Formats: sequence, structure tokens, C-alpha cells
Amino acid sequence: MRLPHPIVNASGTFDAIAARRAFGDALLARFPFAAFVSKTVTVEPREGNPPPRLWELAGGMINSIGLPNKGLAGYLAHDLPQLAGLPVPLIVNVMGFSRDEVGELVAAFGERAEVSALELNVSCPNVKTGMVMGADPGETAALLDHVRPRTAKPLIVKLTPNCTSPADVAAAAEAHGADAVSLVNTLRGMAFHPRRAGEPWLGGGTGGVSGPAVRAIALAQVAEVRARIALPIVGMGGVQSGRHAHDLMQAGADVVAVGTESFRDPLAGARVAAELGEIRANGGIMPFAQPGPRQAIAHNV
Ligand code: SIN
Repeated sequence: MRLPHPIVNASGTFDAIAARRAFGDALLARFPFAAFVSKTVTVEPREGNPPPRLWELAGGMINSIGLPNKGLAGYLAHDLPQLAGLPVPLIVNVMGFSRDEVGELVAAFGERAEVSALELNVSCPNVKTGMVMGADPGETAALLDHVRPRTAKPLIVKLTPNCTSPADVAAAAEAHGADAVSLVNTLRGMAFHPRRAGEPWLGGGTGGVSGPAVRAIALAQVAEVRARIALPIVGMGGVQSGRHAHDLMQAGADVVAVGTESFRDPLAGARVAAELGEIRANGGIMPFAQPGPRQAIAHNV
């Protein structure tokens, strides 16, 4: 897959279908990402976790969304035809509650010409059984042995930071047929209700922390994984500017995903790509004072 620039979205942080409704064809003319990564699809439809699903932090947020989606059949019928109209390659993110379920999803999307690659979400912290496969190198290896024969399309394994050694899991993914890894998914966190003592705020009890708060952790984990594997890495975690993207690339990422920042600034992906382009053209030196997030909003408006 050849991309015009290295900035994509993190799964679940940019709803291209809703954005198309809001912005019309202007979205296609100025699509902010080099490839589009879908929100996670499961075999069966899911309503997601009970509300509240978000808690804002000084350095980002905690989400406990719980993978709401239409399920495989609903996605194929309703979402895929709309996403196929985007001007960039489509990467479908999938998650199963067993190897067979992941295999079913991989096989179904593997035969669709509209889909360029698959991202295996073995790292969602918001469903009870979702993380097991991605927290353990042996489970990750067994999953890939099961699903690799079902498609020739690129398989990207999305790693969790909530385990002893993401690098061990990445090495297992590489040895068993993955084409790339992406990291970091969110870090498990929680918040208490401000007015009800001892009651968790989030309907799911705990959630995943994202945004600037996790950036330094993402940098360290990408560097650690890069030291162990040769596969392409999609790095993500708290990217708000071209400098942050450049830092992740220095740590070893080939592609960088923008996530939480897109909630604040829907054009963040395009801004980060432009800033990154200037930094790289200038030999890795910041050619200008990077705008802070607030200035960036004013600039885009
Ligand atoms: C969610 O829907 O709960 C977030 C997805 C994820 O963290 O993988």
C-alpha cells in the first residue's frame, strides 16, 4: 500500500460517514488522512457500554465505548458501500471473541475489493475478553496461525500497552505472519463520580486513556517494539502536531495515527501531515514555531 503521506486516523476516532453527511463532497476534496481506519467491526451487532462513556482529563480523555457497531452483516450492507467512496485506501478494524470469530471477519473482508488491509483489534480494554489475545505472545501467535491463511490482504496487529511486554507480542505477530503492527491502544484507567462517593463515573467501570497524557508512553513502546521487529509500525498516542508525529517516526514508526486530537479539531490529520512534511523537508529540524492546539483551532477556523 503506497500512501501520499504517513498520517492516518486511529480506529474509532473519526467517523467518516458522519463527516461526509456534515461536510459533503468537501470532505472528499480535503480528506485529512492518507488511509482511513474504520471503527472496530464484530461478528454480531453490539450496543456498546452503558453511558457515561467519556471522561475528560487535563491531558486527554478516558473512553469506555465498548465497540458499538452494526455487526458484520450490517457493516457490509450499510457502512462498506459508503466508506468505499472515500478517496483513500480503507483499512477495516475487526475484533472477535474467539479465534473463529476473528477468522470469520478476516475471511469476509479478505474477499472484498473495497478493503485494502485489516487491523486486528486484540487490544480493546473495554470488553471483558477482548484483550487476552493481544496481551500474550502465545495467544497472538495462535490467532495469527488461525487467520493468516484466510486472506492475502495485509494484516496489521493492534497492540495493547496494558501488558508486560508489547515487544514480545509484536515479535510473536511478526513470526506468525503479520504484515505490520500498530500501537499504542489506550491505557486502562478510571475516574470517580464527582458527587457520588466511590462510584465509578464510566458506565463500563473502567476505560482507556488517550491523548497527550499517553504520548511519552507511546514513544517508549514504539522504540521498544522497533528494537525487536522489522515490520512496518503504525505509531500513535497523543499526537497533536507534526513534531509529535516526527518524534514517533524517530522512535521507529513508519506511519503515524492521529486519534484523540481529531475530536477537538476534525482537520487535525491534515494539519499534522502538513507540519510533518515541513519538518522532514527541513532535515528533521522544526522550521517554524509549532502552533499550540488553541492557535491551531483559530487557524483552521
Ligand atoms: C471502545 O470502543 O471501547 C474503544 C475501542 C478500543 O479501545 O479498541
